Amino acid sequence: MVWVILDMNRKKMNRKKIIAGNWKMNKVIEESLSFINELKEAVRGINDNIEIVVSPPFTALSVINDAIKGSNILLAGQDVFWEDKGAYTGEISPMMLKDVGCKYTIIGHSERRQYCNETNETVNKKIKALLRNDLSVIICVGETIEEREDKRTFSVVGRQIRDGLKGLTQKDMEKVVIAYEPVWAIGTGKTATPSQANEMHLFIRDTIKEMFEDKIASSITIQYGGSVTPLNITELMLESEIDGALVGGASLDAGSFVQIIRGAV
Ligand code: 13P
Repeated sequence: MVWVILDMNRKKMNRKKIIAGNWKMNKVIEESLSFINELKEAVRGINDNIEIVVSPPFTALSVINDAIKGSNILLAGQDVFWEDKGAYTGEISPMMLKDVGCKYTIIGHSERRQYCNETNETVNKKIKALLRNDLSVIICVGETIEEREDKRTFSVVGRQIRDGLKGLTQKDMEKVVIAYEPVWAIGTGKTATPSQANEMHLFIRDTIKEMFEDKIASSITIQYGGSVTPLNITELMLESEIDGALVGGASLDAGSFVQIIRGAV
């Protein structure tokens, strides 16, 4: 038993922790800048194998990229289009995200699945577009409350993983992060319990093990998202398979985002 726990801790220590703030459709440029200036000061010196990521709306990416120069904060886009360039009015390409300094892009968020016709197939195309442009991806998966009550959680999340990652190579997987975000926990104040989340993270890791090498499954970062706050982050992070968080509402206030980061290190 002791050895099993030691082995789990060792594996977990080898994985990169990531705390990311998904701002969704919030903050104009001035608000974004005052947030980032406060965050920069507060997280100076924090490293401890933890990546701090913010995902502002497209309109603020460029100024935030300038503002975070020399800091330990990384930038993420909230979506991308799957083509590299061309006549796609209103869309943003992977190259454009790279140009404004994004390291990551969030793909397949449940709000995009719900409001913008995102499917596992478009998720897959977007992931491939990002990877061929040398960008990293945070892929969101998660079930609705109806799917959970129907006992379809594993099949829905399994399908999202298998279809989303279809055709990726072992090498591609080095640039992939998964965020498990049960839809019923997003913006509701109803967090999955640490053991409910851990069970799903384990299932996601097992699914990845079936698709790729064991090494990929044990080294991939899997974040939890859904009503994460300074009050619940530490108990979530104590779970063996939870490597970070994708935070919505509580990431909009620099003070609470910093508390979440500190609670995760
Ligand atoms: P909340 O933290 O507001 O529940 O949102 C989670 C989320 O959707 C992050 O992508």
